[in-house]
Amino acid sequence: MGLRPTHYDDILATRPAVDWFEILSENYMVDGGKPLHYLDRIRAEYPMVMHGVSLSIGSTAELDLEYLRALKRLAARVEPEWISDHLCWTGVGGHNLHDLLPLPYTDEAIAHVVERVQRVQDFLGRRILLENVSSYVTYTESDIPEWEFLTAIAAQADCLVLLDVNNIFVSSRNHDFDALEFLRGVPVDRVRQIHLAGHSRNGDLLIDTHDHPVPDPVWDLYAQAVGIFGNVPTMIERDADIPPLAELLAELEQARALAADALEAAA
Ligand SMILES: [Fe+2]
Repeated sequence: MGLRPTHYDDILATRPAVDWFEILSENYMVDGGKPLHYLDRIRAEYPMVMHGVSLSIGSTAELDLEYLRALKRLAARVEPEWISDHLCWTGVGGHNLHDLLPLPYTDEAIAHVVERVQRVQDFLGRRILLENVSSYVTYTESDIPEWEFLTAIAAQADCLVLLDVNNIFVSSRNHDFDALEFLRGVPVDRVRQIHLAGHSRNGDLLIDTHDHPVPDPVWDLYAQAVGIFGNVPTMIERDADIPPLAELLAELEQARALAADALEAAA
């Protein structure tokens, strides 16, 4: 489950049956105060993973060493099972676009990202997970599908993959590709975590808003993913219109039940 400040007290009071929490790294890159106080208390009770949005691994701007130092400091405090960010770029030339933007799927971009992932992994002293993003534009320069791009980077940089099943669904609708082909194109041994989420429609586009429960077509795709990748640690992302803890726990139960059925069917 994603750790959200509105649930801090509930979690400590009720100790829900959650296997681990995913934190948003940037929320805890501070010197003290309430976020770290709760972080330490909840970490004492649960394993955690760290998820960031600011690495901008695909940008042509220099890697932000100050950010990486803060990330490493936080990792020393949290001792997470793993650290993830997105296969995207978020800005260039000193401008932060506050969005996770896709890259052109080319050999040049693969080489660029691979070199940066290797430097980040060397600095952190561990492999990272890269997540596929939702996208609303494509580049005329792209000459391979997104899943081949992701797979090539994971293989060449020796990093791992956070597969966001909702993002695959959203992008498959926006760009008219087969979501199942995406799943089948990613090597099983690289996938360490799965994200589920809801989305919204805006005209012809699906938008990755994380403000709804997981919809049926995403559950269906998740069942297919479990059939392919097995029992991969999964979490449901809700970043806006966050409901009470009990509601998210019920959705988590739904994921567990569905994964158990899919594993049985695949056995
Ligand atoms: Fe995600």
